[in-house]
Amino acid sequence: MNVKKQLLSLKAYDPGKSIDNVKKELGLTKIVNLASNENPYGCSSKVSEAIQSIAHYAHYPDSRAEDLRRTLAGRLNVKESQLLFSSGLDEMIQMISRCLLTAETNVVMADFTFPQFRHHAVIENTEIKAVPLKEGRHDLEHMQQVVDENTSLVWICNPNNPTGTYSSERELRSFLEKVPNETLVVLDEAYYEYVTAEDFPDAMKLMREYENLLVLRTFSKGYGLAAFRIGYAIGQEKLLEKLDIGRLPFNTSKFAQIAAQAAIDDPSFVEECVVKNKEALQQFYLFFNKYRIPYYPSQGNFVYIEPEMDNDLVFHFLLQKGYIVRPIKNGIRITIGKKEENAEIIALMKEILVDGAAIKRTS
Ligand SMILES: Cc1ncc(COP(=O)(O)O)c(C=O)c1O
Repeated sequence: MNVKKQLLSLKAYDPGKSIDNVKKELGLTKIVNLASNENPYGCSSKVSEAIQSIAHYAHYPDSRAEDLRRTLAGRLNVKESQLLFSSGLDEMIQMISRCLLTAETNVVMADFTFPQFRHHAVIENTEIKAVPLKEGRHDLEHMQQVVDENTSLVWICNPNNPTGTYSSERELRSFLEKVPNETLVVLDEAYYEYVTAEDFPDAMKLMREYENLLVLRTFSKGYGLAAFRIGYAIGQEKLLEKLDIGRLPFNTSKFAQIAAQAAIDDPSFVEECVVKNKEALQQFYLFFNKYRIPYYPSQGNFVYIEPEMDNDLVFHFLLQKGYIVRPIKNGIRITIGKKEENAEIIALMKEILVDGAAIKRTS
């Protein structure tokens, strides 16, 4: 079979073991998944009410998500034609890569960021210029220096997954000033709703000033709708018209559109989640500071630590106790959970990282 040769260097996405399998294997009754940056509080109760109103399944959904488009455009104060919807940002990243990248172009990104940027660049057989993070943050100066006449795309994950760090408005503006107009700069703001930093960029304002800026947001995180798969891009009309050509005809389901619409209509749900997330991050920071566990202050609903211990050992210890976290490179990314879950995982981390509890490895 003649698949593209670059596929041979990639693996299909590994979602990890299912919660039921982990429960069975380890004989546990409770598992808390803190590995996927999902919203521990679920979603607005308005969402379940709204989707119950859907009674007909035989028709395709509205391809352009007109109702949701109208509502969202009003909220963001942009034209309806400045929005593009996708089946989660995962599909948006694929769509952008497919529409912009070729063997003749290159793409610039951080070397430690959301892995799907790289995954799709490899599939499109494009050159990847991956710039190391500087103290856990995007090194925008260095990234700008590697942009050349063949750079068609730059990914900036803000806040960055997995480090939770962010680029400020001043840093981003200075970057955008120097990048050529022909290079598309994509700001992945998947965790936008959680951000509390005052100098975080106002992407909507920047987008009006820099026509090569595209902003991505999702309903999966702050709104707690990951199961529905819906995200969106906000940018210049002319660019979105082109990207729309690469979109599948009915890429967002009727359920996803209606759920997103109901979620937008209940901003108080997200506001409460953000307050709880911020309080919980403080709970973690207190612990990390007390025991000098290296971490990056986060603007997302997760925190990345780099303990001195082998992260695989820490992962297995927590797994045996019913907590799934995500080991990445030399560290561990932990999704912020509910208050009692955070207290419990902090106590477990103390056992292993501070008190040196014995570890039994599982396969
Ligand atoms: C930075 C970032 N971008 C995009 C996504 C994809 O989000 P979704 O496809 O659920 O919208 C994620 C998911 O974790 C993410 O962390």
